[in-house]
Amino acid sequence: MTISKKGFGLAVIGSQWGDEGKGKIVHTLAEQSDLVVRFQGGHNAGHTVVTDGRKFKLHLVPSGVIAGKRSLIGAGVVIDPRALKREIEELAANGIRITPRVLGIDYRASIIMPWHPALDEAREKRGAMFGAAVAAAKKSAAGVIGTTKRGIGPAYEDRAARVGLVFADLIDATTLREKVFALHHYEQRVLHSLHCGLAESPERIYAEYATLGREFALFACDAASEASDAVSGGARVLFEGAQGTFLDVSFGTYPFVTSSNTIAGGACVGAGVPPRAITRVEGVAKAYTTRVGNGPFPTELFDAIGRHLQEKGAEIGTSTGRRRRCGWLDATMLRRAHQLNGFDGLHLTKLDVLDGLRELKIAVAHEVHGKQVREFPIGVRDALRARPVYETLRGFANVDWKKVVREGKKKGFGALPSEALAYVRRIEALAGVPVISVSVGPRREDIVFAKN
Ligand code: IMP
Repeated sequence: MTISKKGFGLAVIGSQWGDEGKGKIVHTLAEQSDLVVRFQGGHNAGHTVVTDGRKFKLHLVPSGVIAGKRSLIGAGVVIDPRALKREIEELAANGIRITPRVLGIDYRASIIMPWHPALDEAREKRGAMFGAAVAAAKKSAAGVIGTTKRGIGPAYEDRAARVGLVFADLIDATTLREKVFALHHYEQRVLHSLHCGLAESPERIYAEYATLGREFALFACDAASEASDAVSGGARVLFEGAQGTFLDVSFGTYPFVTSSNTIAGGACVGAGVPPRAITRVEGVAKAYTTRVGNGPFPTELFDAIGRHLQEKGAEIGTSTGRRRRCGWLDATMLRRAHQLNGFDGLHLTKLDVLDGLRELKIAVAHEVHGKQVREFPIGVRDALRARPVYETLRGFANVDWKKVVREGKKKGFGALPSEALAYVRRIEALAGVPVISVSVGPRREDIVFAKN
């Protein structure tokens, strides 16, 4: 995991349903980078970085700021200015000052307005979806998709409908006033049709957002050209993915997905760099699987093993505090993720959470309509019905992970107990991707790299 000295564009992508531990990996890689770029999503993301005994929770601000690296919010991101202000204040309270030297925001990034979370919540309540989606969601109290209710989907819809606000509008009082008044009227009618409404007047929203616009104006930049020029000028640029491959709006378990392209191709579109600017793609996969919100999850566990993963892995959402659903690793997902992203390597996280399980299972295929398929089912109906076909490996227990980390510095994966190593090697073989690092604890230091 050493980034070359030459111009380099490295995309780090989640290979499951998000929460793979990208924050830690990105933070480690950011230290060797010159520039870090977020290219999609918004404050639905939650990246945890634990370093020097301190814990940081990032949502919208790229993880590069913790390492003091110039960090950009690209045009593909949706920004809630209130949430951004809160995050910047929390970081300042933790000793990280976000100045315009550190953070740049693309003029073209979309803005989440107060009506977007209101719409998100209203739709989740009403269940404005159809067929299998509703049937699946009925089992859950989390709403239909189980979104983060942060207004992500409605903000992306407005962008595609060409009626949304962008960052350039937020920092220009005249345009902001015009758009807030016109859109407030329209969105209020939509909300009324869903039997709810916005309590805030357009005057109030305009006044607050104009102030936020003034506060953020100095962050405005052309992030796309800055990132492109950086790569072609020989800098090392890290493209930080949020969520994961199976939440991609086009290739995830639709409709139980987020509203952006989370896969590596999304880095070009969201950051505004040419495909050739991405010179390497690294995936992040948890050693088991988790998911927040509704939707298919064939290897989900509802037994003591599921509870072991949930409790030992502290599987609670960073952004929403929801319990994550837990299950065995699904190699068919990793294969699909590799197909979609073209991983050069995989970072395997939270291996230590499996400590204490007598047997480890990996889904190698699925049974759908009585037939075995090696691919993760594409349609949501099939994915909801899929029954995993497992391969069983021996587990490991009472491992001294500190010793593994210490010895790992010299021996690489040779420091892992033989059962843990066999598990890692089997994942490599099934996914068809080499594992570059294995993470065995929450701190940045708790990591073992493969020996070159
Ligand atoms: P939205 O992005 O808020 O619209 O939520 C859509 C789906 O993506 C829901 O199932 C969320 O739980 C999930 N989701 C969104 N962001 C994250 C994340 O950062 N980690 C894990 N799941 C996420």
